[in-house]
Amino acid sequence: MTSTNLTARSLVDMAEGEISREIFVNAEIYEQEKERIFSRAWLYIGHESQIENPGDYFVSKMGEESVILTRDFAGKIHVFLNSCAHRGMRVCRYDEGNTSAFRCPYHAWTYKTDGTLVGVQDYDNAYQPPFDKSEWGLVEVPQMANYMGTIWATWDEDAPPFEEYLGEATVAFDHGFCAWDGSDAGTELLGSTQKWRVPCNWKFIAENFSGDWLHGVSHRSVDLIRLGPSGEVGRRDDFGQLVVNGFPEGHGILYSLYPNKQERTEYAMSPETSEYFQHCWERRLKKLGDKAGTCPLVGTIFPNMSFHAQQPRTLLVSHPTGTNETEMWRTYFVDKSAPESVKQFLREYYMRYSGPAGMTEQDDMENWNYASEASRGMIARRRPYHYKAGLGVGSPHSELPGVVTEQPITSEQNPRFFYKRWADYMDLGSWDELRDAKSVRFWERAS
Ligand code: FES
Ligand code: FE
Repeated sequence: MTSTNLTARSLVDMAEGEISREIFVNAEIYEQEKERIFSRAWLYIGHESQIENPGDYFVSKMGEESVILTRDFAGKIHVFLNSCAHRGMRVCRYDEGNTSAFRCPYHAWTYKTDGTLVGVQDYDNAYQPPFDKSEWGLVEVPQMANYMGTIWATWDEDAPPFEEYLGEATVAFDHGFCAWDGSDAGTELLGSTQKWRVPCNWKFIAENFSGDWLHGVSHRSVDLIRLGPSGEVGRRDDFGQLVVNGFPEGHGILYSLYPNKQERTEYAMSPETSEYFQHCWERRLKKLGDKAGTCPLVGTIFPNMSFHAQQPRTLLVSHPTGTNETEMWRTYFVDKSAPESVKQFLREYYMRYSGPAGMTEQDDMENWNYASEASRGMIARRRPYHYKAGLGVGSPHSELPGVVTEQPITSEQNPRFFYKRWADYMDLGSWDELRDAKSVRFWERAS
């Protein structure tokens, strides 16, 4: 795949649990990722609640490219490349808002919210014979999906439908993206999206949230200062039983399984919030029964959408901007029906936990930044990274789909699955080949 004729699979040794540092530091590999991964995979664009009304828009990204998520005046959702058909200007320069049309700032070509070109300066005089405006609209993604309010798109018209792409990881959405009380009463954004840049390769971030529970030690200082909403030592009062759940599509989820009888004391610092979550927990128990305590903590949907599904509930997209730079976009969610005082308490908690000012996020970023820097040198690049924890231990599970490894065994199976799928995308040309390559059981325990 590179000028040295290496295949991606030769850099990602799943049988040994070793991965070449080249995939994190090599500019040529990064250039190929843009085409092989970010032009083909389903990518997270935004949330339906960001474009509730006709004319609402949110400017997002697909890989390095700017796209506009918008709702037209017939109520239909679109994702357009944010690049003018005339001479490429960024048509929309705002982050989000509402508009009756998109008017390019350069020479004023104007597009309706459904992407059709409707205004061209001096059209009647300057263009003889007239050109066909219907051929010069905004470029629209060939496939888009709305899954539980999350909007996804792919540039590849041959990509499988989104639900097939998600595979059995749909359970993570079903468990994690309904309201806290288990209903589908709706979730809304808390403020807008926070965006900032970190000097590391995007894959450090994606693999971290796929279920790297070994790095909990990095958050030790945060745990000791009682940052969490319980007011006790530790970010949360109790994580429950930790379980990593990996999928052949490259997605990875870290679950906590709570016994149904366990008392929920995460919000002891705020009696009102505590009461609200107790009420949610009781409703969740009633609705979901034995499954109430099955909830993802964090996860990554291949390639670059990560989430915290419990508290805080946030989405994080790691948009690559270079071999060694990533834009992190984090969006925070609360239940629509939660009381204002609960939303306010959660806002303060989220801010001190995640985002550029969040202390837990800062711990993580420090690791990624320094690991990137310390891996780029000529000598450093010779050694592979080590992903051997729990190698060969993953197995099927009675409650969860995919491959599972439970505490007390620590496992890096989810990053392994992520990189295995990454290598498939880099080496394989067709979706048929990608479908055929989906097995991860080869090196985990046979089902
Ligand atoms: Fe948009 Fe010219 S580049 S109108
Ligand atoms: Fe962390």
